[in-house]
Amino acid sequence: MILSKFVDELPIPPILKPRWKDQFYTYYEVTMTEFRQSLHRQLNDSTVWGYEDGYPGPTIEVERGEKVLIKWMNNLPDKHLFPIDYTVHGAHRDVPDVRTVVHVHGACVEWESDGYPEAWFTKGFKHVGPYFRKQIYRYDNCNHACTLWYHDHTLGITRLNIYAGLAGFYLIRENRERSLNLPSGNYEIPLMIQDRTFNKDGSLYYPKQPEKPIPELETSITPEFIGDTILVNGKVWPYLKVEPRKYRFRLLNASNTRFYRIKLDSGQLMYQIATDGGLLDYPIGIKEIMLAPAERADVIIDFTNLEGKNIIMTNDAPAPFPRGDKPDPSTVGQVMQFRVTLPLSSVDTSTIPANIIPVPKIKEQSVSRIRYLTLNDTMDQYGREWMLLDHKPWAAPISENPKLGATEIWYLINVTGNSHPIHLHLIDFQILDRRNFDVDTFNKEKVIDYTGPAMPPEPQERGWKDTVRANPKQVTRIIMQFGPFTGLYIWHCHILEHEDYEMMRPYRIIR
Ligand code: C2O
Ligand code: CU
Repeated sequence: MILSKFVDELPIPPILKPRWKDQFYTYYEVTMTEFRQSLHRQLNDSTVWGYEDGYPGPTIEVERGEKVLIKWMNNLPDKHLFPIDYTVHGAHRDVPDVRTVVHVHGACVEWESDGYPEAWFTKGFKHVGPYFRKQIYRYDNCNHACTLWYHDHTLGITRLNIYAGLAGFYLIRENRERSLNLPSGNYEIPLMIQDRTFNKDGSLYYPKQPEKPIPELETSITPEFIGDTILVNGKVWPYLKVEPRKYRFRLLNASNTRFYRIKLDSGQLMYQIATDGGLLDYPIGIKEIMLAPAERADVIIDFTNLEGKNIIMTNDAPAPFPRGDKPDPSTVGQVMQFRVTLPLSSVDTSTIPANIIPVPKIKEQSVSRIRYLTLNDTMDQYGREWMLLDHKPWAAPISENPKLGATEIWYLINVTGNSHPIHLHLIDFQILDRRNFDVDTFNKEKVIDYTGPAMPPEPQERGWKDTVRANPKQVTRIIMQFGPFTGLYIWHCHILEHEDYEMMRPYRIIR
């Protein structure tokens, strides 16, 4: 089914209002529900899940350092919207089907409030997972200004819960960002990009089986999900009317598996000002921007003097990345449309500053530990592709246990054919380099035989990151300092079909 493009306007999620706010803390309540929402005018309303009756959920806006308490509540029905594979870790038949837990992606947060995958809870907190610690989460927001997002993280069904709609933006602001005079207010817009597939009746489709079905199982997880329709902020191929002036867009890839390589069909530059973890040293003018699942980029697009023009945001990243098919330019090769049709309401005094904020480099001399971690795939008992971190499943004993305050370098040694967006909770890291190596020699002799020079990160990645593309047949090196909390966190691939099975590991920060 091919839906018409650019017939619905881009929705902008509302800003969530706190229940309580005083000089000490801010308190929010957020409830997850099932409801029907129009995702495209040619479709019947789709049944989705969302936070506060919205997909995407409302945007949570906080100040750096603000003490925020959030009570996340599950008021979802008992039956899941999508087929559950009960062979997947954490999703066996001994637990209720509908479980949720919320993670603020990129947050600097105590572990008990981080949304540990086994800290799930059901409606009314009737059943809770083994690591559930509290009903009200506490966020200290020690990050600098940045674009974060919140989403479900339940062990074994994260891919299904996020696909159902459980995701929203979480923005951290601060004065040093305000003083930069970036486009703001109506001219600052978050864009959550996702792919979906629909059934004829307008319901969301999620496969019961991979392309090559597993006959022993009624439902089996698939190694990837690639949708045939692109949505932004919960609308299929929307358009946005803009004024001829500068806008700041907060781009987020919230898709299950799909990567995007974003361009504007006008050929004009986008000025990237921030990465996952906040502002860059200085803006970079770029023609295209790569976004793996969970990666963010803040860009300024200048529509000045483009009155009357329609500009399409396009995507040409193969899916799955990088081995898959190139997207059809007439469908998933398009994301959304900007229409420069609104009159200029006031003079555009916002700026693209020449310099933004210095990003201090983490020094390699301060490193106390180097870890070599393989990204590998193997086969499970049903002959399915089973992707792991360092050959270990989720339940294996913790092997990464950095000391509080320690700086480490992790070598992500990817021997698979996929690019995996690797995400660490709690901390931001910097990418040191990527380097090709010989996979056969590594598999046989366990030595890294480099076949090319170390390549620095792309300009668009030279800031604080919490998710990095670890490309096939490359060693990707990242450096980070662990803190400011101790406790139980996780690191994982952010392809949701991979993290559910079981490209995800706990890690612990110790004293
Ligand atoms: Cu976006 Cu572990 O999360
Ligand atoms: Cu992966």
